[in-house]
Amino acid sequence: MSILRSFTAALLGLGVFAGPALADGHLDAAVKARKAHMQLYAFNLGQLGGMAKGEIDYDAAAAGAAAANLADLAAMNQARYWPEGSDNFAMGEETRTLPALWDNIDDVMKISGDLEEATTALASAAGQDLDSLRAALGDVGKACGACHEDYRQSND
Ligand code: HEC
Repeated sequence: MSILRSFTAALLGLGVFAGPALADGHLDAAVKARKAHMQLYAFNLGQLGGMAKGEIDYDAAAAGAAAANLADLAAMNQARYWPEGSDNFAMGEETRTLPALWDNIDDVMKISGDLEEATTALASAAGQDLDSLRAALGDVGKACGACHEDYRQSND
């Protein structure tokens, strides 16, 4: 990954790609929208993770609400958040989405389906009791992680 990044940086340094200058408003808006969507995932998952770890007191109603939010978010049609040309090679620092995402749409859709399934299961489990919440949380984290692993530029 760092090789790709230094290569990109070198090209940007040479002015081969005027990355951000090429980005139009519609791409900027799409990047903002998908980051906001991700932040909503993270907020709701964070509440549930806090309860699972015992950092936040378990509250069945709050857990059920956060899990229902996750399931609703995962079920949303997000196709328009990911227009071609909005990868981090074309747009630079503004986004961490790797070009590989557009080359592997089938896999991305499969992971999205896994997330939808896992959040649906979580939505029925989270409000039952803490053990049910804990048991259902792992598959959700796995789906988030699978996509980040392959399609999000790491921060290292
Ligand atoms: C289908 C792929 C995919 C799935 C599933 C996915 N993410 Fe992401 N996520 C990404 C990509 C790609 C980015 C980089 C977005 C960008 O910078 O353009 C990202 C970025 C993020 C960010 C940083 C947002 C920002 O403001 O820069 C957070 C937080 C995040 N994801 C949390 C989650 C959580 C929590 C889940 C699971 C509930 C999840 N994601 C599921 C692909 C995914």
